[in-house]
This record gives sequence, structure tokens and C-alpha cells, in this order.
Amino acid sequence: MRAAIAAYLGRSRGIVCTPDEVLITTGSARTLDLLIRSCLVAGDRIAIEEPGYPQARWQLLAAGMQVLPIAVDEDGLQVDALPTGKDAPLAIYLTPSHQYPLGSRLSLQRRLALLDWAQANDVLLIEDDYDSEFRFNAPPLPALASLDQRASVAYLGTFSKVVTPALRCGYLVAPRRLLQRVKQYSMLTDYHVSWPVQQALTLFLTEGYLERHIRRMRQHYAQCRARLHETLAPVAHLAALKGLEAGLHTYLELNATLSVARIIREAQTHRVIVTNIEACYMHIPDRQGLLLGYGGLSLEEIEWGAQRLRAVIQQEAGLERGAPVVKPARLLFKER
Ligand SMILES: Cc1ncc(COP(=O)(O)O)c(C=O)c1O
Repeated sequence: MRAAIAAYLGRSRGIVCTPDEVLITTGSARTLDLLIRSCLVAGDRIAIEEPGYPQARWQLLAAGMQVLPIAVDEDGLQVDALPTGKDAPLAIYLTPSHQYPLGSRLSLQRRLALLDWAQANDVLLIEDDYDSEFRFNAPPLPALASLDQRASVAYLGTFSKVVTPALRCGYLVAPRRLLQRVKQYSMLTDYHVSWPVQQALTLFLTEGYLERHIRRMRQHYAQCRARLHETLAPVAHLAALKGLEAGLHTYLELNATLSVARIIREAQTHRVIVTNIEACYMHIPDRQGLLLGYGGLSLEEIEWGAQRLRAVIQQEAGLERGAPVVKPARLLFKER
């Protein structure tokens, strides 16, 4: 399976690695945990994106790391804001191909600047490439691991988005010196990933099924995004859909006048589950919005949910202006 992954990463992400630079894990969460436990000690300074993936932040905090949030904008991580010299962190965890949660992609210019910074300051880049297989009408951007010349990157891959999280399978590609420690710790704590799962995925990768699946799912997800975009277009002045170029979720930025908590609560009463991006912030949020995940949903389910969310936003905007609350008729009678 390690050989199949190395070959797949060469084809799909331009990452040149050998099978012995790959470690199979039970997913990115576990990979990050392995890195933390085998290579870091409590008190180490680790930078993250702000806003960023809360689970990674919680893992770092739980292990006693000093966490340093670095701001993100439309082009991804603000590389200019990274501290240098004695203030530089030991490592930085980031999601360059589809920033979690805002959905932006780190520009090529910033990728190169980030690698220069990492090399100059001896920082490990932990690249979480969790859903890079899905890109829509946007040119590919190289993985940091494919641009890296000086072994500065630990690359986290997963089958959770591209196939299903039910498999609990992912992988780490890392410089040999680092991988050796991670492997030893992994052997001590869970020995190996389920053998039948590895066998099935190896076949999936080597017989071309994975790439066929990706091609088919790209079309499906592109339709999902388009449907979401069309359905929410009438409320675009209140709620701007962002991060449409890649991945399996989009970010809906809400006007500051709207109550996110009320929108989430009201949407939930119509059985539409959306996530507040507030938890993605370590400090005070500088924007408000929702994460709309659509992996695993049909086109009809997306339209159904987006229509309800649109009505809830319209209702909330009406509330804001003090207008009477009129529930759209469809919400009253159309049950799933
Ligand atoms: C930012 C990010 N990284 C990684 C993952 C996948 O994690 P795992 O491989 O542990 O399922 C997800 C899934 O939601 C994610 O959002």
C-alpha cells in the first residue's frame, strides 16, 4: 500500500517519495497525534491558522503545546505575519490547498515564501492536504511537499474525504529522520492499520478505481456547488458564498447585522445542520459565517437544505429590520 500511495502522490500531487517515506495511519487526526507525541514536547511553540481547523488546535493544546495563531486572508495564511529568528515556532500546521474553514487556496507566491521562511528558520511545515482531490474550474496549485527541496514538510493525506471517513485510513509522508521516530511510536501504540482495509485500498489505488471515482465525484460535487450557489444567490447581499474553488465545504459569510446563533437554531428546526465558524478561532473572530459541508449529500438534498437556509436568512434579515416575521409557505407544509 505504501508503494501504491507513493505512486499515486507522484501522479496526482507531483510529490516524489519512496514507499519507505510513507507511513499508513488511521487518518489525519491520528497522524497529527503521532507527530505530536513522537517529535514534540509540552511547551513547544506551534503555529496554526486563525481561523483554522479546531480539532488540530485542540490536539495541540491537549498535548501542552504553546499555540500561536497566524491570520488568514483570501489568499490563505498571511506568510508576512510569521515570526522569525528566536520567535519562530518549531512547526506550523496548515491547510494550504483548501483553507479550513474559509476555503481559500494558498497562492503560489505565498507557498514559495513559506518554504523560504521554513528553511531560514528551521520550521517544520505540517501540510494537511485533506481534500485537495476536489478542485473546480481552478488551476492546480502544487503541494508544499512537492516544492520542498530541504525536507521541511510533513505531508498529511487521508481517505476520509476522497473515499469515506468510515475507513479510518490516511498516511504521512515525511523526511526519513522524522518518520523513523513516528513509525516507532506508531508501532508501540497501534501496530498497524486494519489489514483488510489496506488490501482493499491498495487494489483501489493500483487498478485505477480511485482516479475513476475522483473524476466522477468531481462532476457530482461541481453540480452540488453550482446548485448551492444558485439557490443562495437571492440572499447574496446578506450571505456571501466563498471558497468555491476547491474541497467539500464552502464558507457562507454573513452580514454583521445578522445573528448567526439564531440562524443556526432556526435552520436546525428545519433539520438543516450548519456549523458556526466561531469555534475555528482561537481569539476573537474578525468575521461571522457558516460552514456548509456537502460531501455525502445528493443534489436534491442540497437544494432542499439551501432553500430552507435561504428562507431562514431572509426571515432573520426581516427580523433585523423589525419587519413582521412571515414564514415562507413552503417551510410550513413541505416535509421530507
Ligand atoms: C481540516 C481537516 N483535516 C483532516 C480531516 C480528516 O481527518 P481524518 O483523516 O482524521 O478523518 C478533516 C475532516 O473533516 C478536516 O476537515
